[in-house]
Amino acid sequence: MKKAIHLIYLALYGFLLSSCAQSGSEQRFVNENVEFACRQTSCMLDLLGAPDGRYPRTVGDDGKLVTTDIYGWTSGFFPGSLWLLYELTGDEKWRREADAWTAPLEPNKLNVNDHDVGFMVYSSFGRGYKLTKNEHYKEVVVQTANSLMTRFSPVIGSLKSWQGGKAPHDSTVWQFPVIIDNMMNLELLMGAFSITGDSAYRKVAVAHAGTTIKNHVREDYSCYHVVDYDTVSGKVRDRATAQGYADNSAWARGQAWGVYGFTMMYRETGMRKFLDVAEGMAGFFLNNPSLPDDGIPLWDFNAGQTGYHKDWKFDETALGYIPRDASAAAILSSALFELYTFTHNEAYFDSARRMLYALASGSYRAEEGTNSGFLLKHSTGSLPHGKEIDVPLVYADYYFLEALCRYERLLDGISLQ
Ligand code: GLY
Repeated sequence: MKKAIHLIYLALYGFLLSSCAQSGSEQRFVNENVEFACRQTSCMLDLLGAPDGRYPRTVGDDGKLVTTDIYGWTSGFFPGSLWLLYELTGDEKWRREADAWTAPLEPNKLNVNDHDVGFMVYSSFGRGYKLTKNEHYKEVVVQTANSLMTRFSPVIGSLKSWQGGKAPHDSTVWQFPVIIDNMMNLELLMGAFSITGDSAYRKVAVAHAGTTIKNHVREDYSCYHVVDYDTVSGKVRDRATAQGYADNSAWARGQAWGVYGFTMMYRETGMRKFLDVAEGMAGFFLNNPSLPDDGIPLWDFNAGQTGYHKDWKFDETALGYIPRDASAAAILSSALFELYTFTHNEAYFDSARRMLYALASGSYRAEEGTNSGFLLKHSTGSLPHGKEIDVPLVYADYYFLEALCRYERLLDGISLQ
């Protein structure tokens, strides 16, 4: 019943949009961006050559393409973008490329050392499975979920994110660090639950998300980046940041991961508390006084503000400006389109669209034939480490394409699920 109402609503929305004079220009916006993405991605494919286990990540100081191996956390996004181009165009060329770039990631199905197998395998094999129903892809998804499940601690109620690490503020060596980003990897577990019907995957995902609400999300719906736990007592040992400005600040991409992750968990479970947190976190992002008018956030909402103490050495003042993070905007735009479908709150739709248009403008979208084939500029990977500041990032492109795909579906009155 709920689904039927939802579909009627979407159809109505699609009808309203298509009946207004604007709809032609909206579709032209999508088409122009998809055509650009196809040409630009073809340039990247020319640069890369045949798949050889190296995956695009960013552009280095020398202006050259930087790649990672299959175990880098970003490896699945390029195949994911190829799947999105297949979905957006229906052109078999993109399916062939997506298949070819997905296959080499298969060893990650046995990777028990990294929570990010969710990103690596669900963006590639998972997206491929949804589009093609390839049985082998399905097996890889389930096997990878089994590997991720080994990282769950029932005492803590969470999956372990990193193997270790150290707090930037003192000499604390982390035992069981969990980062807000880990919310994204739960989609792999929910995918395995939907494939197999085995509720163990769902239980772990629900437990992890619940523990994240309890210990990462603050009163004002901003969030900590890292929470470290005692492996014996299950108690919180430390709250910190690794990629944000300060332990108590709001790192923009972490906030976007939270909105996306909790919205996804509401989609997959129907549990109201996840929707409430997604809305709270979205509200923090959208109503933040430091959010620029175009909706593309500073890399951290509190960068340089008083009351936020940085514990890292990199001198960001030498940059002379506070970098933005286009990747956070792309993730959030995609998440907000989905959040809108569950809440029918037009503010989410309008903000998602505003961010999408900003990303597609000359301020953020690359000139064709430049940017080593990446679509977007001005993302920030890890400023405290002095790494990937104001650069293209492969995941910004992936979520930009996903946001475009979701926007087009909403324009056509098609469900996102
Ligand atoms: N998951 C790592 C990052 O967002 O940079």
